[in-house]
Amino acid sequence: MRLVILGAPGSGKGTQGELLGKRYGIPQIATGDILRAGMAAGTPLGTGARDLVNEGSLVQDDVMLELIDRRLGRADAAKGFVLDGFPRSIPQAEGLERILKKLGAKLDAVIKLDVPKRVLIERLTERTSCPGCGSVYNLSSNPPVAAGRCDRCGGGLVSRVDDTEETVRKRLNVYQASTTPLIDFYDSRGLLLIVHGLGTIPEVTAEIEKGIRGLVR
Ligand code: AP5
Ligand code: MG
Repeated sequence: MRLVILGAPGSGKGTQGELLGKRYGIPQIATGDILRAGMAAGTPLGTGARDLVNEGSLVQDDVMLELIDRRLGRADAAKGFVLDGFPRSIPQAEGLERILKKLGAKLDAVIKLDVPKRVLIERLTERTSCPGCGSVYNLSSNPPVAAGRCDRCGGGLVSRVDDTEETVRKRLNVYQASTTPLIDFYDSRGLLLIVHGLGTIPEVTAEIEKGIRGLVR
């Protein structure tokens, strides 16, 4: 299964991407997570991306395409993958088509998560995550058992630098300008699956799986 999850910041790409990866036994490839890991480790990729990620701008298309080209060429992606946060622009989507052609592979579905803007801002300003194991929480909808502590590994929870209300608004504008054209791009290829992302996390997963069953026959 080769999937893309498309959606605004806070629409649930990471949450659903992780669950779908486990469900279909395929790697979740989250470009934001890869960039943040590079920033934490001080790699050339992370150092070059740091200011852009923290201010809510997109990292250059050629940098992202090189990263994805390398990642999709790894053995664990041969049987499929779920791309979370990539592509985010028409040049990235066109580049992904070239990479897949080279690999002799095709996408099965592009899932677009639909969530109203007001809810996106609420979700992101209330999100915390664990830098140790990557678990993601939400102070309203999915709080940890002990405040500020990760349920899975006990690590201290932090907010992302780009989750302030001002930067979230900027990210939403960037999404609108650069990423929404991908909705028509994938619709015209018969791959688009629009899913309402407002239910509970399991309800949204069930809706995605139902849609995939209808699309992939
Ligand atoms: P990235 O990390 O991808 O950030 P994003 O797209 O802004 O999306 P988020 O991760 O903030 O939200 P999400 O949709 O994953 O939601 P989540 O599941 O966490 O990218 C960060 C930056 O990296 C970019 O700004 C850019 O600089 C750079 N970058 C990355 N990819 C790039 C690319 N391809 N090209 C160029 N630059 C790139 O959920 C959010 C919250 O809501 C959580 O608290 C969660 O618990 C909660 N929640 C989830 N589902 C539900 C639900 N159904 N009900 C209630 N709460 C829910
Ligand atoms: Mg995410």
